[in-house]
Parts: sequence; structure tokens; C-alpha cells
Amino acid sequence: MENWISDFKGSLATQPLRDEHKKTYEILNGFNNGKVKDEEFIFHIEFLLEHHFKIEEEILFPEFEPYLKEYLPYMEPIKMVLAEHNGVRNLFRKFKEFKERKYLIEISNLLSQHIYKEENGLFQQIDKFLPEDKKNQIFFRITHGQREK
Ligand SMILES: [Fe+2]
Ligand SMILES: [Fe+2]
Repeated sequence: MENWISDFKGSLATQPLRDEHKKTYEILNGFNNGKVKDEEFIFHIEFLLEHHFKIEEEILFPEFEPYLKEYLPYMEPIKMVLAEHNGVRNLFRKFKEFKERKYLIEISNLLSQHIYKEENGLFQQIDKFLPEDKKNQIFFRITHGQREK
């Protein structure tokens, strides 16, 4: 994987999640070249499912939806990333059920596509079209939620 992630700069609304993408990207790289153990990757998948995806699904995407509607007549960018979240959830369920490593590899491939799409697609739209006061509110909700954990 080439190092495409380091140049991204977000806004207050997306930066905490972009920082987590960076961490995920490092773990994916390590998993792919054998430097990150399966257990560590599994632990990180659990973090994504319980924390990162939830913030996107419960805070960031619903807040952005009305603004996306303003300039796009369809909701595809949000629908697409939500479908990928569900894809990761399903693959992880299968992994836990069958304990086959091939599911971890599938998750790793799906996650790298997913992060690429968010960083280069949806998150850029959010940074461009979301009003500044909304960005501040979202930043507060994301970081406040983390402090309470
Ligand atoms: Fe996501
Ligand atoms: Fe994400």
C-alpha cells in the first residue's frame, strides 16, 4: 500500500476520525506484512465497531445528511460507507463463528478501501460543505464522548 494517508488535512469535524484512520492504516499495513499480530488486529476491529463506526453513524453522518441533500440529489456517499460498515460487521461475525483467518484478510481489504473512500470522498465533502459552527459542535460531541468513556 502506498502512503496516501499522510497528506490529508481535515476540519474540526473530521480530524479526530481522520487521526483514527491513520492508526487503522498503520495496523492494516502491519497486518499485511506480518508485523501486527492477529490478536492486535482483532482488538482494533473491535475498537472500530464499538467506537469509530458509531461516532460516524450516530454523530457525523446524521449531522451532515441535510447538507449533502442540498447539493446532491441522492444519498449515495453516505449509503455506500454505511454498507461497508455493515460488511465489516458481517465479516467479523463470521470470523468469530468460524475462526477462519480468511475473514480477517477480507476485513483488512474492505477497511483499506473504506478508509480511502471516506478520506477522499465523503470526508472531503463534509469539510467543504458543513457550516463552521456545525463543525465545532461535532468536534465537541466527538471529543466529549471520548472523555466520558
Ligand atoms: Fe467509516
Ligand atoms: Fe472512518
